[in-house]
Amino acid sequence: MKIRSKLANIVNQSLGAVGVHLVKCEYDLISSGFTDSCQSIVTAKVQERIDSLLSDLKSIGINDRFNTPGRLADFHRDYLVSAVKNHGGGIQYNNAIVLFSIASALSPSLIIDSGTFRGFSAWVLRRACPGARISSFDVSLQNLRIREPSVNYVQSDWFSGGPDAEDWKNSLCFFDDHVDQVKRIEEAATRGVRWAIFDDDTSVGATHQGHNSRSFPKVSFLYSDLESVEKLSWQNRGRQHDLIIDHARLASARLLVESYVRLPEISSITGCSYQLPLTLVKLRGR
Ligand SMILES: C[S@@+](CC[C@H](N)C(=O)[O-])C[C@H]1O[C@@H](n2cnc3c(N)ncnc32)[C@H](O)[C@@H]1O
Repeated sequence: MKIRSKLANIVNQSLGAVGVHLVKCEYDLISSGFTDSCQSIVTAKVQERIDSLLSDLKSIGINDRFNTPGRLADFHRDYLVSAVKNHGGGIQYNNAIVLFSIASALSPSLIIDSGTFRGFSAWVLRRACPGARISSFDVSLQNLRIREPSVNYVQSDWFSGGPDAEDWKNSLCFFDDHVDQVKRIEEAATRGVRWAIFDDDTSVGATHQGHNSRSFPKVSFLYSDLESVEKLSWQNRGRQHDLIIDHARLASARLLVESYVRLPEISSITGCSYQLPLTLVKLRGR
């Protein structure tokens, strides 16, 4: 851990007693946003990109009912006044827009947000689907900063601690929890979930960006040529990580997936920091 982070932790331990928490200002719209005159141009360009995405996704059963003028502009305005001013460690503006759009288009009645952290993804999902039941899971809720009154925050893993007697047919899971993504696919399929969105779906060549080996294999591994690979090794923050490739497991997980879509990366439109684009997975029905 860097000295600055250590110092911030020490200061925050004292400030926590009076309900104050210092956060590092990240480069995002909040700290260096575009002006109102640019905003309408950017929103129109983003809308164009999302419309074209939704039109492509019709073939896998997503309709384009999200296509309502003004929703993205409203989301942008809400975002600027949202309580989370620092999105480091979670999805940021670009992926928030994409998550908002896909969740809106899917319009699920039940949403699982796995990996609450400060509460930003749950905040996005609430704006996308005002009528959905949303449960947000994290093994520790100590970082939760924005609490949506109508979101159910649960301190546990979604699968081991969450409900299983739900109507999963019209559900969406958002996995941003640094847990083995193939395991998340297996779990979602067990419950009968049809749609899942993943953050941090790093490709095989970019494993060094993908946290520790606990968060592997990624969804992308199901579609990578790993036949001749027995073990992947990489370094992250100076630590060595190894992953034994379980070919049989990857092959059976692949059978659970009907469609795999890498969602767009819109930093070239918004000018906000690049983040690895999200992944959309459609699971086969039972
Ligand atoms: C990248 S953060 C989530 C960011 C959040 N989705 C956002 O966009 O603001 C990852 C979170 O996953 C949580 N996590 C770790 N293991 C988990 C598990 N088994 N189930 C749910 N959350 C878990 C961590 O505690 C951490 O808060």
